[in-house]
Formats: sequence, structure tokens, C-alpha cells
Amino acid sequence: MLKPDQIPAHIGARRASMPINNVTKEGKALKHPAAKAPKIFADTGTIAEIRPLWEAGIINGVTTNPTLMKRAGATSWGMAKEMMQEIVSLMAPHPVSLELTELEADKMIIQAEELASFGDNVVIKVPVGGYEAANPNSDRHTGLKVLHALWQRDIQTNATLIFNTTQALFAAQAGASYVSPFLGRLADYMYKNDQVEMPAGNALYYLEDHKGGKENSRQHNTAYVAASGNRMDAGIRLIHEIAVVFANYDITTEVLAASFRNGVQIPECLLCGADILTIPAPLLMGVADHPLTDDGMKAFIEDSKAFES
Ligand code: E4P
Repeated sequence: MLKPDQIPAHIGARRASMPINNVTKEGKALKHPAAKAPKIFADTGTIAEIRPLWEAGIINGVTTNPTLMKRAGATSWGMAKEMMQEIVSLMAPHPVSLELTELEADKMIIQAEELASFGDNVVIKVPVGGYEAANPNSDRHTGLKVLHALWQRDIQTNATLIFNTTQALFAAQAGASYVSPFLGRLADYMYKNDQVEMPAGNALYYLEDHKGGKENSRQHNTAYVAASGNRMDAGIRLIHEIAVVFANYDITTEVLAASFRNGVQIPECLLCGADILTIPAPLLMGVADHPLTDDGMKAFIEDSKAFES
């Protein structure tokens, strides 16, 4: 994996200048040891998935999108709004990203103001582009214009569907508080469209694992890990590139790594300088499990029986 001493020092300096995540209350003697730890968000619209993660102190925020709201059971915009409102209230004051569904700038701004009224912790998620793809008569810069208009209105934004560093830079220029590079979707795309028979570096996943066809090893052995960090997969490289560019130019827009596919991508993103990770709730729930922890725990419990009277 990327060695800590390979991380440019100014990425570390940028992190150190970021707001405190784990605040120690005044008067408390034992300071929180991870004050500047990166934030972890749950990527879900399902409150039943959010609650246990919130109660366990694992998450500091939530991201949603229309697909996640539909998956959570919303069958109308009215219902989606009620469900989003509930998440915003549960998570306050921690940020909750709510995505716009309108496609015209004026309507998007009105919709953003309505969603922002749900709470001070609302962050409006704005697709950075793709408007012409959705409607050929659309203005291609709709997303950037809306990000800028919301910055002028003091509404926090999350520029979503980021797949290259230029999109991230333009979003930051427009005033976005967060950018969401989608590492997993980029990886999926590369895997589907690249020529996997070409030497490693072209294919996303380690070639031998791919040929072996073992689903799990393929998922958990990314090119990045398989090459001991000497070769980054496209998603991880994207996160790293954005983090370096933002550090180079002292841009405080936070890099919110999104679209996770496996647990290995978590340390990869942290080593690359991501500020926040938004992780699907089911993955987040089990990612800290380890068979050796389970075995060790069973042995401790067994041995502690020796002390029973
Ligand atoms: C991010 O905010 C998105 O909601 C999400 O991470 C997309 O992930 P997917 O590629 O699994 O849909």
C-alpha cells in the first residue's frame, strides 16, 4: 500500500488544518486522541441502518442519493423528503447530504432551499455535470452554476458524480464544501471496459486473481494492494490526485471518497489523503470484523473460566 512516507507532507499539513472532528469538552482531563481523525459517513437512506452505526459512535454524517432513497422504500418525493428529514434530525449537528432531483438551475435552487430548511446540518448534493446527457437542451454548466449560487446563499454543497480531478477543481472554484469522487464506479467501469488480458496496470484488478475467478479474492485484492502500493487503481489514484491538488493550492473543500466496494479501499483512501469516507452501511457494519479477533475473543472467554469460583 502507499507508504506513509510517500504521502506528500503538505497533504498532512492540510489535514492538520482541518476542523476538529472529535471535540473534547471543556474541563475534561483526558483529551480525545483522534481530534483530527477523518470523518466516516454512512452512505444510505435507510434510518434503520444509520441508527446502530450512530449509536456505536462510528459515523459522523450521512450521504444519500435518489437511488438510496428509492432503495430505502421511498415511492414519492414527498415520502423521500419525510425520510430525509428524519435522518437530518437524528444526525444533527452532523452533516447529511441530500441530493437535488430537479434539472433546471432555478428549480434546483428552490428545491435546495427547501431541503436546506430541514436543518443546519443539511448539505445539498449537486451532480457536477451530466445535464446535457439527461436533457440535450440543458445548459452543460448547470451543476457548477447551482453550486456557485448556493455558495452565495451560504448553503453547504457536496458536488457529486466526480470522476476526474478537473471536475473536482471546478466544483471547488464554484464554492462546493465537499467533492465526492466515486472510486468504486470508476473501478467498475475500468474493469468492464479495460482489456483485462493486458499486463497489470491496464486492468483494474490483479490479473492472476481475475483469472482465478474467485469473487472474494478479486474484490479484496485490488491492483493497489496486489502491487504493494506500487500501482494505484484508477479510483484510488483519483482520490490521491484531488488531495494533492487541493493541498497544493490550499483549497479547503473536503475530499469525500465515495462509492466503496470493499474494506480494503478504506485504508487505501486514508493513505491517499481523503478527508471523509462515505461507506455503504452494510459494508461499514462488518468491516472491522476479523476472524483472528473472533478466535482470540473465544480463547479469552474460555481461559477466563479458570477464574470462576
Ligand atoms: C455518494 O455519495 C454516493 O451516494 C455513493 O457513494 C454512490 O455509490 P455507488 O457507486 O455504490 O452507487
